[in-house]
Amino acid sequence: MARCTMRLLAALAAVAPAFAANNREDLTKYVLPKVGTEGAIPGSSLGGGNMFPGAAVPFGTVKLGIDTSVLNLDQGGISSANSGYTPRGNLTGFSMMHTSGTGGQPKYGIVSQMPLIGSLDAQGISVADNRTYLTNRTDESASVGYFRTTLETTGIQAELTAAQHSGSLYYTFPSSPAVNTSSSGNSSQAHVLVDLVHALPSGGGGYIAQRYVKGSLVLAEDGSGYSGSAWYNLGWNQGEQWPIYFCANFSKPATTMNTWFYPYIQLIPHEDPVVLRPYYDIVAGDNLAIGALFSWDYEEGEELEVESRVGVSFLSAEKACAHVRKEVPWKQSFNETVQAARNAWNDEILSAIIIPEENGPKNETLLSLLYTHLYGTALMPSDRTGENPLGWKSKEPYYDDWYTMWDIFRSTTPFFHLAYTSRFTGMLRSVIDTWRFDGFMPDGRSGNYNGRTQGGSNADNVLADAFVKGLDRFKGINWKDAYEAIVTDAEKVPVRNMDFNAWDGGTKEGRNALPDWHKYGYITLDYSRSISKGIEYAQNDFAAYVVAKGLGKKKDAKKYFGRAQNWNNFWNPNATVDLGERGLGVHTGFFGSRNPNGTFNEVNVTDCGGCTWGDLTYEGLVWEYSFNVPHDTVGVIQAMGGEEAFEKRLDASWIQGFSAGAGAANTAGTALFNPGNEPSFQTPFLYNYMNGKQYKTVETTRNLINTYYNLKPSGIPGNQDAGAMATWFLWNMMGLYPVSGQPIYLIAAPFFKALDLRIGTANPYQDTTKSKTYVKIRAKNLSQENFYVQGVRVNGKKINRSFIWHDEIRWGGKIEFEMGAQPKKWDTGELPPSIAMGSFSA
Ligand SMILES: *[C@@H]1O[C@H](CO)[C@@H](O)[C@H](O)[C@H]1NC(C)=O
Ligand SMILES: *[C@@H]1O[C@H](CO)[C@@H](O)[C@H](O)[C@H]1NC(C)=O
Ligand SMILES: *[C@@H]1O[C@H](CO)[C@@H](O)[C@H](O)[C@H]1NC(C)=O
Ligand SMILES: *[C@@H]1O[C@H](CO)[C@@H](O)[C@H](O)[C@H]1NC(C)=O
Ligand SMILES: *[C@@H]1O[C@H](CO)[C@@H](O)[C@H](O)[C@H]1NC(C)=O
Ligand SMILES: *[C@@H]1O[C@H](CO)[C@@H](O)[C@H](O)[C@H]1NC(C)=O
Ligand SMILES: *[C@@H]1O[C@H](CO)[C@@H](O)[C@H](O)[C@H]1NC(C)=O
Ligand SMILES: *[C@@H]1O[C@H](CO)[C@@H](O)[C@H](O)[C@H]1NC(C)=O
Ligand SMILES: *[C@@H]1O[C@H](CO)[C@@H](O)[C@H](O)[C@H]1NC(C)=O
Ligand SMILES: *[C@@H]1O[C@H](CO)[C@@H](O)[C@H](O)[C@H]1NC(C)=O
Ligand SMILES: *[C@@H]1O[C@H](CO)[C@@H](O)[C@H](O)[C@H]1NC(C)=O
Ligand SMILES: *[C@@H]1O[C@H](CO)[C@@H](O)[C@H](O)[C@H]1NC(C)=O
Repeated sequence: MARCTMRLLAALAAVAPAFAANNREDLTKYVLPKVGTEGAIPGSSLGGGNMFPGAAVPFGTVKLGIDTSVLNLDQGGISSANSGYTPRGNLTGFSMMHTSGTGGQPKYGIVSQMPLIGSLDAQGISVADNRTYLTNRTDESASVGYFRTTLETTGIQAELTAAQHSGSLYYTFPSSPAVNTSSSGNSSQAHVLVDLVHALPSGGGGYIAQRYVKGSLVLAEDGSGYSGSAWYNLGWNQGEQWPIYFCANFSKPATTMNTWFYPYIQLIPHEDPVVLRPYYDIVAGDNLAIGALFSWDYEEGEELEVESRVGVSFLSAEKACAHVRKEVPWKQSFNETVQAARNAWNDEILSAIIIPEENGPKNETLLSLLYTHLYGTALMPSDRTGENPLGWKSKEPYYDDWYTMWDIFRSTTPFFHLAYTSRFTGMLRSVIDTWRFDGFMPDGRSGNYNGRTQGGSNADNVLADAFVKGLDRFKGINWKDAYEAIVTDAEKVPVRNMDFNAWDGGTKEGRNALPDWHKYGYITLDYSRSISKGIEYAQNDFAAYVVAKGLGKKKDAKKYFGRAQNWNNFWNPNATVDLGERGLGVHTGFFGSRNPNGTFNEVNVTDCGGCTWGDLTYEGLVWEYSFNVPHDTVGVIQAMGGEEAFEKRLDASWIQGFSAGAGAANTAGTALFNPGNEPSFQTPFLYNYMNGKQYKTVETTRNLINTYYNLKPSGIPGNQDAGAMATWFLWNMMGLYPVSGQPIYLIAAPFFKALDLRIGTANPYQDTTKSKTYVKIRAKNLSQENFYVQGVRVNGKKINRSFIWHDEIRWGGKIEFEMGAQPKKWDTGELPPSIAMGSFSA
């Protein structure tokens, strides 16, 4: 491993700041869940954060929110509602399951309710066709654990809140509805429509669009509720069919109930009339759509309030009902559930970072950004412990919606490691257990289906990062199995699933291009995404090396150490781009596309031609990917022609106008560096690999934060991706950035004069929320102008290296920055580890 000796520093573990421990502030007030719900085109979610703005608890299975139509053609084209929500999309229902921040095409948006009023016939409403009842919204509000909206067509207000596997929908049917409700004098009806076919639609069609398969419904004869099951398949990760069981209750029994069925054809709206019948118990075979309509008589002129308590389970309807009874019992009011959700966010997530009094006057904007992004770290993955798929009997914790490892291994899981340590150990156990039961670890897993892999097998990186940061000693994790899971990724060619987008398939799990990787040490054009896969495989093999070495497996360590250096095999020293004077001239040496006979193919390093599934690189330019060898950045510097050339290349990365982009959904700005997507995440920090250049990391990262992050709905420059953007932002706030697979953090410059991060690494056996161990970050003399680092002390000791070791903060500690208005070359010491420097050995 790294040349670090174990740095068993005295735990300077700080005590929790007084005001946080004693009279704790309600930090949820700073969270704005709608930040990151809009893209660059006003009203559209395209290229935006795709944040889920509805109600949820931390890592909740249920994320109760609104679903909007995909027919948002007035938003500049179809933009899929990945989290259900689009800023101006028409509402088609409220549903229990969502992802947050994901791109591509939607998953979930299932088990829905839609409130309606009056005679459906008179309004031309067909229960089988959401186009006949979709509506725009008004008077909408989102806060932690609470979402409210008003349906513009009918005036019905809906308030939502959520617990772990359950939630509540509180409908207020207006006294004078805007629509013609009248079929019999002034007596009218309020309805709740339950449509099992309802699932978030996709602009992509084909195998990308989710499909309802079959289901069952049982309506309580007294009108108090309903339960049942529904099966869905496909969606972004092209999963096999999976069941969801559900249960719902109403605060008032329905007066009338009806059900229906009709032959369901995916993607084709059902236009024939549907007959409603009073059958309370129906089971539908494949492709028979079913649904139910619950109706309440009420007098116009009076408001009607109906609350529905709902829940899901992956095991049975009985269990779903038990979740409802336990988590949202009727003796608990709607707003008590809201408060319980807020408490959970405060306790586990938001109190992980405290800004103590000594920080000085409050900057509300900065606090809102901080806590909004802290909130954004904990909507995924979904904690489904006790809800493993049927037949998977295990005592290990279970998490689904690793959506995706590709996005989160760089900045998210290292953040979890420090801030949510005890929960993170559970997540790691779940990842290993998934290998035990499914044969491979997840990457893009959701709906209990392992894929989709975009590049390498990046759960390897997650495990290695945890391993080298001290969790190797944690007995709760079976590292023997973890290593076997990593070796499976490194050696076993996965079954080649057919993929709608990738012509070579093999996207379900593992690494489909292993045959080339094993044979040539690079990946030829026989595989899609050959360049970016190769880059990730090298990193995955470094992860394998790290764990093999730590476990004393010498032979394996040697093998994987060698393979980690395979990146050299497809580096094309002759690849050149001339960006002209404005682009700082000629840049030489890039990753290339190599043939079996060793020759390189012509590749445009600034234009990836869209870089999706079938291309040479995935969602990033060769320019961007060429910086991506975190275990050997010094090697890359040499390959690019030395420090001067490397610095020039970094400098050129921020200049606007040179990138052809990686598609509208995944690109922000026009620089070769893309602040909107993960492959570029580490690049702005790479000045730290040259002595005396750390100030440029600070200049660059500050500029990016100030340019691309704000509190508007469009205030996240790309898909939030399960907390990836959020944690990139948070590391910047702390003035640190993790290097995947190594026990180090690169130093930038904090945004607060004082910030305390609660960590659980001092005792991973204890619930982290009970931890009294803090990393205290102080930035003396910090101001808008004084953002350059003048010097750094770690636990009182002055350092002159541009990074800190994990062991320096693992038991708590203090990082003191001295800030000033001018750049200073304080970073004259040891460089961060790289293979080329001999930092690692087999
Ligand atoms: C919402 O639906 C209305 C009525 O069908 C339609 O005119 C409008 O374009 C839709 N709005 C959006 C944003 O799709
Ligand atoms: C409302 O609907 C009823 C029933 O279809 C119809 O008789 C009546 O004319 C409608 N009223 C208006 C104002 O459209
Ligand atoms: C919502 O739709 C109604 C009916 O089509 C329309 O009158 C209203 O202007 C729309 N509101 C918004 C905000 O689009
Ligand atoms: C409906 O209620 C309004 C206001 O209370 C009343 O003026 C009207 O006569 C009622 N209509 C019927 C058909 O009962
Ligand atoms: C709404 O209906 C359209 C057209 O039938 C369908 O494509 C879409 O999936 C439906 N939306 C939801 C959320 O079910
Ligand atoms: C809630 O609904 C379920 C499913 O229909 C039913 O079995 C149960 O009796 C209902 N509970 C209450 C308290 O109404
Ligand atoms: C919950 O509390 C909010 C804020 O006080 C209030 O506006 C709302 O009406 C309450 N909702 C319910 C269902 O009680
Ligand atoms: C507060 O923070 C924001 C975001 O960093 C910054 O733009 C603003 O200038 C700060 N305000 C003050 C008064 O420092
Ligand atoms: C790079 O170009 C030089 C000079 O043309 C040539 O000798 C060398 O083989 C090339 N290297 C590669 C890897 O193609
Ligand atoms: C090497 O292989 C490529 C791709 O198959 C081919 O186009 C090229 O002509 C070959 N070159 C040599 C020197 O064999
Ligand atoms: C690479 O792509 C850019 C942008 O599309 C284009 O301007 C440039 O000419 C291309 N370079 C080469 C060498 O084809
Ligand atoms: C603090 O910043 C000011 C410039 O605003 C500078 O004059 C002073 O030297 C700095 N103090 C230290 C200790 O760096």
